[in-house]
Amino acid sequence: MTIRRATAADSELLAEHRAAVWVETDHWTHAELQPQIPVWRDFFHRCMAEDSYAAFVAEQSGIAIGSGGLLVYLTIPRPGFGSDRAGRVQSVYVVPQARRRGVARAIVRHIVDLARRKNLTSLVLHPTEAARAMYAEFGFEPADEMMLRPLGD
Ligand SMILES: CC(C)(COP(=O)(O)OP(=O)(O)OC[C@H]1O[C@@H](n2cnc3c(N)ncnc32)[C@H](O)[C@@H]1OP(=O)(O)O)[C@@H](O)C(=O)NCCC(=O)NCCS
Repeated sequence: MTIRRATAADSELLAEHRAAVWVETDHWTHAELQPQIPVWRDFFHRCMAEDSYAAFVAEQSGIAIGSGGLLVYLTIPRPGFGSDRAGRVQSVYVVPQARRRGVARAIVRHIVDLARRKNLTSLVLHPTEAARAMYAEFGFEPADEMMLRPLGD
């Protein structure tokens, strides 16, 4: 298995993997998400070009078996820490036939290493139950936040 940095050419794959996460972890069907796939594809394409999104693709014999991304966004610098960027781990997905072989762990390691190299102030994520133990291994801890959504409707 190899892990490589995603390029603009992977935008469709990343969108498909994001849809697969939603199908598996929420009430959506793949058919319902079809109209959203070009939206996600274009988002990844644009944000990778702007460097506000970075993703990694895991491959086995040249076939993509998983991916995951890092969304980088503006934040207010904390006292004693000059960076004005924070990060969010997004859309970590591994195809069912490649699971429990450490693929997600390897992807997340790349994401965390990149976040450190980018000097991000913090890295957050919304874990699924299956992924919670893995994130804890990396040092992620529960954080107390509130959320109001969807504000756009
Ligand atoms: C969650 C997911 C990414 C894990 O991928 P994976 O490649 O199988 O994960 P790994 O093999 O790297 O497992 C790392 C650790 O995560 C935990 N883990 C992974 N899958 C698990 C499961 N189904 N149940 C319980 N723990 C699990 C274990 O602690 C595991 O370590 P271990 O195998 O040494 O016990 C994959 O099942 C998936 O794509 N699920 C659907 C989408 C999703 O939930 N994404 C996570 C978004 S936060």
